[in-house]
Parts: sequence; C-alpha cells; structure tokens
Amino acid sequence: HDDPRLARISSSIRAIPDFPKKGIMFRDVTTLLLDHQAFKDSIDIFVERYQGRKIDVVAGIEARGFIFGPPIALGIGAKFVPIRKPNKLPGPVISQEYTLEYGTDRIEMHLGAVEKGERVLIIDDLIATGGTLEAAIKLLEQVGGEIVECACIIELSDLKGRDKLGDKPVYALVDYE
Ligand code: PRP
Ligand code: ADE
Repeated sequence: HDDPRLARISSSIRAIPDFPKKGIMFRDVTTLLLDHQAFKDSIDIFVERYQGRKIDVVAGIEARGFIFGPPIALGIGAKFVPIRKPNKLPGPVISQEYTLEYGTDRIEMHLGAVEKGERVLIIDDLIATGGTLEAAIKLLEQVGGEIVECACIIELSDLKGRDKLGDKPVYALVDYE
C-alpha cells in the first residue's frame, strides 16, 4: 500500500453525502474514470498483481464491476463473466440472495459460464458490508469455482465486510473509514 499511484487514485474518487439516502457517504468512482492516469493505474495495479496466477475467470459484479473487470480480464488473459442483478440474463441462471448497506437483492450468473475447478478473481468497485461479495463467492462456489481473491477499488473498513468472507482474501486499493 505504499505504491505512489494510490494517492492519485484515492484523490480522484468523489464523496457524495446522503446518497442514495441520509447517512450514507457515497464513494463515486465515476470521477476516477475521468482521470485517465488514475483509471489506467488502477487497472495496471490489478493486472500486475494477478498476472501469472493462473486465473481462468474474472467475474465482475453489476454495475461497477463491469467497468473494472473487463480490462483486468483482457490484461491477464482470462475470460470475463458478468454477475448480474435479477432477471437481466437471458439464459439459464443460478441465483444467490444477499443484503447490502441499503437494501436487499439477488445476483445471478449464467449456467455454464464458469466450470468446476476454474480459478476465479471476483471484481467490484467497493466492499461495504461485504454482503455482495459474500453472495458472489457463494454463487461461484455453487458451480465449483475456486475463489483466488476478491478485488475492489475501495474498502469501507469500518463496516468490517472482509470478516464476512471467511478465509477468502480481499484486496482493495484505497480504504475510507
Ligand atoms: C454497491 C457496490 C457494491 C456493493 C457493496 O453496489 O458497487 O456492489 O454496493 O456493498 P456491500 O459490501 O454492503 O454488499 P449497489 O448495490 O449500489 O448496486 P449498483 O452498482 O448496481 O448501483
Ligand atoms: N455501496 C455500498 N455502500 C456504498 C458507498 N458508501 N459508496 C458507494 N457504493 C456503496
């Protein structure tokens, strides 16, 4: 965490108070995407970390895992699999329920997208309570995926989301308390 690129990444992320409801400090990664250097650096850091680790699948969680997951998958030579909100995927799916910082939801993945024994990197923009990543881990394990790590741009460490994920490692670039 002493990578000099992290300061620019951190300062490019905007904080919006009381979105989507009162009391939530929303960490907005769309401003990171406006800074080409910060966006590129964030992808490069993940590619440097995961190349050579025999990862077969990058699984990105809707919606913001769809921004960071695909360039990482291309960079490390893995396939990209979208994990989506309910009733979005057209083919046969498996599902997993979860709770988040401000509501409850379900995620789905196409059957056949990940095969038993494949090594999976899960990508999202942010870990808050950890409910979303916990559900993604369960979803991928339902089909026999081996979770190598969960990677995020942002960790809200006060919420202790990583404690929910058991022995599954979480790697985050920046930490906002
Ligand atoms: C946000 C964020 C993560 C999740 C983290 O997504 O992008 O996916 O919340 O929260 P958790 O660790 O408490 O589960 P959001 O639910 O806002 O959905 P969206 O990306 O589709 O807007
Ligand atoms: N998802 C859950 N909590 C969040 C927050 N504080 N900012 C952005 N996305 C979130």
